[in-house]
Amino acid sequence: RPVVFSGMQPSSDSLHLGNYLGALVNWVKLQDEVDPIYCVVDLHAITVSQDPAELRASTRRTAAQYLAAGVDPLRSTLFVQSHVPAHAELAWVLGTITGFGEASRMTQFKDKSAKQGADATTVGLFTYPVLMAADILLYGTDLVPVGDDQRQHLELTRDLAGRFNSRFGETFTVPEAYIPKESARIYDLQEPTAKMSKSAASDAGLIRLLDEPARTAKKIKSAVTDTERDIRYDPAAKPGISNLLDIYATITGTPIADLEAQYAGRGYGDLKKELADVVVGALEPIRTRTFELLDDPAELDRILAVGADKAAERAERTLATVYERVGFLRRR
Ligand code: TYM
Repeated sequence: RPVVFSGMQPSSDSLHLGNYLGALVNWVKLQDEVDPIYCVVDLHAITVSQDPAELRASTRRTAAQYLAAGVDPLRSTLFVQSHVPAHAELAWVLGTITGFGEASRMTQFKDKSAKQGADATTVGLFTYPVLMAADILLYGTDLVPVGDDQRQHLELTRDLAGRFNSRFGETFTVPEAYIPKESARIYDLQEPTAKMSKSAASDAGLIRLLDEPARTAKKIKSAVTDTERDIRYDPAAKPGISNLLDIYATITGTPIADLEAQYAGRGYGDLKKELADVVVGALEPIRTRTFELLDDPAELDRILAVGADKAAERAERTLATVYERVGFLRRR
């Protein structure tokens, strides 16, 4: 069975629709056919400053949302990154074969550090993609279901795997990205040329999994569109409508062409109203289930502990091979 690995940062009050449609839906979909490993990447989260108590709460909240969305802890290995020390350990080794220039070209680093300013940017943010490579390579991962914004990090991971293998002997599986087209990039509802993101300029453009249904519906009904009237998929000319069609298609599984036919001659208001029902219908059960799971933190922690044990065993095996290959003296 192919190994699938992915993760999300626990760094906000709720996952958003981009996280859900870009990644989480596919995690659940892949679950039956693969050996799935899903991680809450708290080490990554501290590359931007976090309130400690809030980070702890949001780590549980993120795990609860994975479960509520359908990640099954019996079929998947579900764990918290900091519970498995091998991630940080392998990242150190991979950092020594990563070029400074190579890491400097990561667009996500360039964007985030530009926003923070040179003095506020950290080495941790710079080496973020190296830690991500370690996450993936520790498990012999074949497939990585992520949104399109992670494509460059995946390329770096592949390069590092290949480089290590040619320098030290065949050790790592070179992973592939799994990025289905419609859901690859969900855009901000108020600014449909910017990706939906928790750091968005306006809250109205962001759909949160844990928001009140009425609030979610209202945001969809007030999504920015354009001054034409026809409902047609054309991301360049009609980014707002195309984003709504992508969201609709991804949730319902209806091909875009069928949606265009279904809405021929109808207005934007109809589309938004019906899409609001579709989105609320998909998110409402996840929201309810998340809050139920959060009512029993001990059970949640137990699930995460079982996952950490399973993950650690596999990760430590890979790390031992890596240490052996690079020439570290074995401790006796
Ligand atoms: P994070 O937490 O920033 O994002 C989590 C996932 O959500 C996807 N995503 C989107 N997809 C479509 N449209 C959007 N607007 C949108 N916004 C976010 C991201 O692509 C991602 O799949 N670096 C990773 C976390 C990570 C990881 C890993 C992933 C750490 N180690 C190993 C895979 C494998 C990230 O972007 O997290």
